[in-house]
Amino acid sequence: RYRDPDAGDKMNPFAEQEAWEEHQIGKATLKFGSKNGKQAADDYQYVFEDGIDFIKASVMDGVQAEDELPSEEPDVSSAKSKLEKLQEERKTLPIYPYREELLQAVHDHQVLVIVGETGSGKTTQIPQYLHEAGYSKNGKIGCTQPRRVAAMSVAARVSEEMGVKLGHEVGYSIRFEDCTSDKTFLKYMTDGMLLREFLGEPDLASYSVVMVDEAHERTLSTDILFGLVKDITRFRKDLKLLISSATLDAEKFSDYFDSAPIFKIPGRRYPVEIHFTTAPEADYIDAAIVTVLQIHVTQPPGDILVFLTGQEEIETVDEILKHRTRGLGTKIAELIICPIYANLPTELQAKIFEPTPEGARKVVLATNIAETSLTIDGIKYVVDPGFCKIKSYNPRTGMESLLINPISKASAMQRAGRSGRTGPGKCFRLYTAYNYHHDLDDNTVPEIQRTNLANVVLTLKSLGIHDLVNFDFMDPPPSEALLKALEQLFALNALNSRGELTKTGRRMAEFPLDPMLSKMIVASDKYKCAEEIISVAAMLSVGNSIFYRPKDKQVHADNARMNFHTGNVGDHIALLTVYNSWKETNYSTQWCYENFIQVRSMKRARDIRDQLEGLLERVEIELTSNMNELDAIKKAITSGFFHHSAKLQKTGAYRTVKNPQTVYIHPSSGLAQVLPRWVIYHELVLTTKEYMRQVTELKPEWLVEIAPHYYQLKDVEESGSKKLPRGKGRAALQ
Ligand code: CDP
Ligand code: MG
Repeated sequence: RYRDPDAGDKMNPFAEQEAWEEHQIGKATLKFGSKNGKQAADDYQYVFEDGIDFIKASVMDGVQAEDELPSEEPDVSSAKSKLEKLQEERKTLPIYPYREELLQAVHDHQVLVIVGETGSGKTTQIPQYLHEAGYSKNGKIGCTQPRRVAAMSVAARVSEEMGVKLGHEVGYSIRFEDCTSDKTFLKYMTDGMLLREFLGEPDLASYSVVMVDEAHERTLSTDILFGLVKDITRFRKDLKLLISSATLDAEKFSDYFDSAPIFKIPGRRYPVEIHFTTAPEADYIDAAIVTVLQIHVTQPPGDILVFLTGQEEIETVDEILKHRTRGLGTKIAELIICPIYANLPTELQAKIFEPTPEGARKVVLATNIAETSLTIDGIKYVVDPGFCKIKSYNPRTGMESLLINPISKASAMQRAGRSGRTGPGKCFRLYTAYNYHHDLDDNTVPEIQRTNLANVVLTLKSLGIHDLVNFDFMDPPPSEALLKALEQLFALNALNSRGELTKTGRRMAEFPLDPMLSKMIVASDKYKCAEEIISVAAMLSVGNSIFYRPKDKQVHADNARMNFHTGNVGDHIALLTVYNSWKETNYSTQWCYENFIQVRSMKRARDIRDQLEGLLERVEIELTSNMNELDAIKKAITSGFFHHSAKLQKTGAYRTVKNPQTVYIHPSSGLAQVLPRWVIYHELVLTTKEYMRQVTELKPEWLVEIAPHYYQLKDVEESGSKKLPRGKGRAALQ
């Protein structure tokens, strides 16, 4: 046999044998082999078997000729200070050459629509330009963002660029967190926060400029802001209004704002290759993981951005990717995994912007936030499973659910575009070209047309806007949804029968919470349990990140969780017990570890609770405690959530009482095995079934007692009660 003189040990008859080592990655297999038997890492070859097949479908245009491309090389003249470097970076942004023109346009027009590709510098630069041009002398420059994380991270970036401390000259304001001071003249905030500011300052007198950013997202708050800011520009001629958007259909904004001029910032985009799968993928999570590793071992350097639908998915993918790459050791290059989602603690958010070390590859696991709100440099590959989580609302039943839905074509284009910002990119869509063309809508339906409007109606009513039907909506909500919101607020006793705000309604509007939660708090006055109810409200507001359940300690974690459910008190009281127990340990971190509780979530709950306590004072509710009467606490909860009642069926499923629908208790609930006859729930989530999350047992007569406008006795009588003797029928009600 012929022997290659360079190959390994000539005397070893096995030297030529191929040594392949296999790793299962989802449905795919990653094989490592070395033809000559050497174990050096660089000699490994990879074979990806049964991975995902993609076909290249098209190339999204790049707009600049190769020689005009700005250099990708980082500036290595390291003697410069960080501030100087940041100042130079500012000048490389696509918006920079248009600085003077833009300022002139703002000077000449009161309202301006600004359009520019994501990453061109709209959010970080325009407010700074306006400050530099002196607009901050006459008032604050406010810039709204649909997402909290974006508001925080952009404010942090801008304060760095300006060399000031975050919260001083540059700050942000998001629900339950105000990081501004008297000095703040550049204020980033969520659109919902600016909406709330109207309550205290209906003409926004302290602002000289309002920039409604990411207008294309069309969140509910942004849409309502449109109507309100449009109105104040009529009598506040000194106020400048900027509407900025990342998409090109700006005409619609312009038309709405009385033909405001459109300022276009020419994009700088590189070509992006679009790849589709050849067949539909049954499990997009698995497909995303396989695709990431496939890119990692087969594609040249460049970071990866994966779009997932929420925190849970991101954590799952994070865990699986870590697990699988750990098994591969040093055979593959380092993969740095960076999650980003709304509840991610601030310290960890900064990680996604850190440059990737040489030889490694970064993979960013993001929610929709990375679609247009945040720009991450260095992304060359986008993995797009084609889904996002959206709120959907059925005005007929009044039910709201978070659903995982296919994205729109417009979103898919935005996602793909994220890979071509600093060089040519590739986008791997985990769906077929047929799916794209036939199943995806062109645009996402604005939130106002698919959500419960109770909150907005309450805000508008508090602003003295009564004629909601004639409010200047850009796209009006379905009249059914408006009516439903009025009905709900009436049932909650926030509005009277003439549709006017009641004292309860005015108190409720003080709380930056959903009307059902604010009603629960206002009702706690009557049941003398405000102390407990604000803890419950704070814990519910944190979301579903209180308990954690590590894969290798699930039994321990479940046992720890069930300790809080002793006596089948229900999930609300269990949350209260968690909070109180933590407080008793003097907010101990150790205690959280021992009980499988996320300390970060608890700290957030504590912050929220502190603020709710402050608001109680404003609406003159005394902070009384009634811990020994759990029924009083449950009645206060029912006062807010009576719409969400359900009754057990023979099948073990539940039926919602009004507008019957089949629902189930979520497996994570302490009552999942108990199955009480009557329950109220905090929210519905649709996964494999329609699940009720955060469930508490209820006495049906409470419904009639607490919400007589909404429930009659017949609603809560047992269906079989006619056959029973009177006495037993009554007993069955208990
Ligand atoms: O708003 P727009 O999408 O037009 O761009 P931007 O958010 O102002 O981003 C401009 C530049 O700032 C991007 O190149 C980002 O990399 C950078 N940036 C950053 O480094 N850190 C942030 N938190 C936000 C932006
Ligand atoms: Mg932006």
